[in-house]
Amino acid sequence: MQFRNFGSLDWKASALGFGCMRFPALDGQRNSPNIDRPEAVRMLRHAIDNGVNYLDTGYPYHEGQSEILVGEALQGGYREKVKLATKLPTWLVKSPADFGRLLDEQLKKLQTSHIDFYLFHALDERRWRDVVLRHDLLAQAALALADGRIGHLGFSFHGDFAAFDQIVNGSDLWSFCQIQYNYMDTETQAGTRGLKLAAAKGLAVVVMEPLLGGRLADPPKDILEVIDHFPVRRSPAEWALQWLWDQPEVSLVLSGMSTMSQVNENLRFAGTSRIHSFGPADQEFIAQVCQKYSARTVIPCTRCGYCMPCPVGLNIPANFEFFNYAHAFDDLASARFRYKAFLTEAERSGACINCGICEELCPQHIAIPEWMPKVSALMD
Ligand SMILES: NC(=O)c1ccc[n+]([C@@H]2O[C@H](COP(=O)([O-])OP(=O)(O)OC[C@H]3O[C@@H](n4cnc5c(N)ncnc54)[C@H](OP(=O)(O)O)[C@@H]3O)[C@@H](O)[C@H]2O)c1
Ligand code: SF4
Ligand code: SF4
Repeated sequence: MQFRNFGSLDWKASALGFGCMRFPALDGQRNSPNIDRPEAVRMLRHAIDNGVNYLDTGYPYHEGQSEILVGEALQGGYREKVKLATKLPTWLVKSPADFGRLLDEQLKKLQTSHIDFYLFHALDERRWRDVVLRHDLLAQAALALADGRIGHLGFSFHGDFAAFDQIVNGSDLWSFCQIQYNYMDTETQAGTRGLKLAAAKGLAVVVMEPLLGGRLADPPKDILEVIDHFPVRRSPAEWALQWLWDQPEVSLVLSGMSTMSQVNENLRFAGTSRIHSFGPADQEFIAQVCQKYSARTVIPCTRCGYCMPCPVGLNIPANFEFFNYAHAFDDLASARFRYKAFLTEAERSGACINCGICEELCPQHIAIPEWMPKVSALMD
């Protein structure tokens, strides 16, 4: 295992962290509550025995069963060998007192006295304003830091760069953050700008969705051919992971692993990882793969945001992003899941009133109001 600086903390994180959201399930369904418990415990302990020192779980994962499973797996001396991260389910917070109530419930489920790394789960501009600030949760977190129930405070993020900037600069309590980042998300979500901003402020940056939830490990045939013909032989999953570890600002890469062979593979990849391991030819190759994915997109939206705000509240670039995702990755189910998880009803294509204001503002001359019913037909 390779170890990396974790922001400004005096602790080294393993290059690979275990994301506890994709355990094997008895019914074969993703995120199922029917976890194959003996196998999941075996995978977690095997990873820890081979150097993984950071586990990331969350209140809703496996419909509430992930935290319980992790608590069980960490018995018998394993708790002391790892840093444990879990997250406050911000969408359940209706008052400041909910912070302590939910944290205490999580401590019980995890069978531990403290959470080493505690995150506000899935922040964006709206949740930052309407949940964290409205209910003064930073003051609640400061109390939990002071009495030791949590070791360090951070947040996981699913918004745009402007919101990320606002949140990173919105508190001195952050030690770390967690962003969705991979070679296809350099300009979406927090993006490369967000990664560098957080790192420059001394925050550790934990990467989630390094394989875009598995999509980059299983590319469409034409892209797989490009990968197979490159002189350096790496699987699609290894290319995506090594691209991340190459970057000094990345503190740790979380992978949600669903089989023991994935655990073993990713341990092997992490063991050979290095900062600045990529030369110009490798970077050029990844750019070529990105281009291939981008060529599969249907709507030429660059996510510049000039068309915003829409008078009725649509998130225009996000609607196009999820529509394009379905085509780029040949994966309508994941695209629909993301569309529904990340956009409110009012932000989705179906709410468009065809006023036409946006179209005049789009530098790409995209016929936005004409596209919205097509997005809606596919995604709603
Ligand atoms: N806070 C948040 O808002 C949030 C959101 C997302 C994730 N997370 C956290 O971040 C973690 C990582 O994200 P993620 O699980 O989406 O990571 P990911 O690595 O992008 O996707 C995980 C999937 O990749 C595939 N995979 C992993 N290793 C592989 C390998 N060596 N070869 C081929 N396929 C491989 C598996 O897919 P198959 O199952 O199809 O084989 C696995 O289920 C999560 O587990 C969770 O802890 C947090
Ligand atoms: S046409 Fe639709 S998406 Fe464009 S500004 Fe009007 S309501 Fe919003
Ligand atoms: S103005 Fe056009 S290119 Fe820019 S985000 Fe809106 S739709 Fe996309």
